[in-house]
Amino acid sequence: MLTVAVLISGTGSNLRALLEAARHPDYPARVVVVGADREAAGLAHPEDFGIPSFLVPYERFDSREAWGEELHRQLSAWRPDLVVLSGLMRLLPPAVVAAWSPRLINTHPAFLPEFPGAHGVRDALAAGVAQTGASVIVVDDGVDSGPILAQERVAVLPGDDIASLHERIKPVERRLLIDVVRRIATGELDLEDIH
Ligand code: GAR
Repeated sequence: MLTVAVLISGTGSNLRALLEAARHPDYPARVVVVGADREAAGLAHPEDFGIPSFLVPYERFDSREAWGEELHRQLSAWRPDLVVLSGLMRLLPPAVVAAWSPRLINTHPAFLPEFPGAHGVRDALAAGVAQTGASVIVVDDGVDSGPILAQERVAVLPGDDIASLHERIKPVERRLLIDVVRRIATGELDLEDIH
């Protein structure tokens, strides 16, 4: 059974979908802990599922490195096989990436390498593209620049705003994330083989 830690900053709807998938006896992974960099609304989900959570508030630390050190310490205590960034809106310091990658993956609401960064949905709309997408990647030292594990196109519809487009992308992200975690757990996808 693959053990997974999930890090969030927001509502955690994708996390919730993973928690629901992982509750199924046939699913080969379990979420063992959820962490957040702020008092995220999504911390309610692990509570609903009886799963522990921890908070490492970014603003309480003097530097990104100091925050990352504490985050790493908390994560390590759970010895997860895989760390999933599911809406963590914070760049991890290089030492944390080095410690976990390639067992460190991220979901992104765009068809990478298009529209990386914190505003993937807004940037796609602003560019006026007809389609954007969703991606799951391995985290590296860049901004959403790591190897792509799965991705799918999502159409931009006339009249879309950031919220409506994002709400159409998220179900695709959830499906991709649940499938990638499953494939990692079964060994179908070997992260050590991906460069
Ligand atoms: C998701 O769309 C995720 O891909 C995005 O934040 C959202 C979190 O939604 N992450 C990024 O944009 C990271 N660059 P959720 O909190 O409802 O799961």
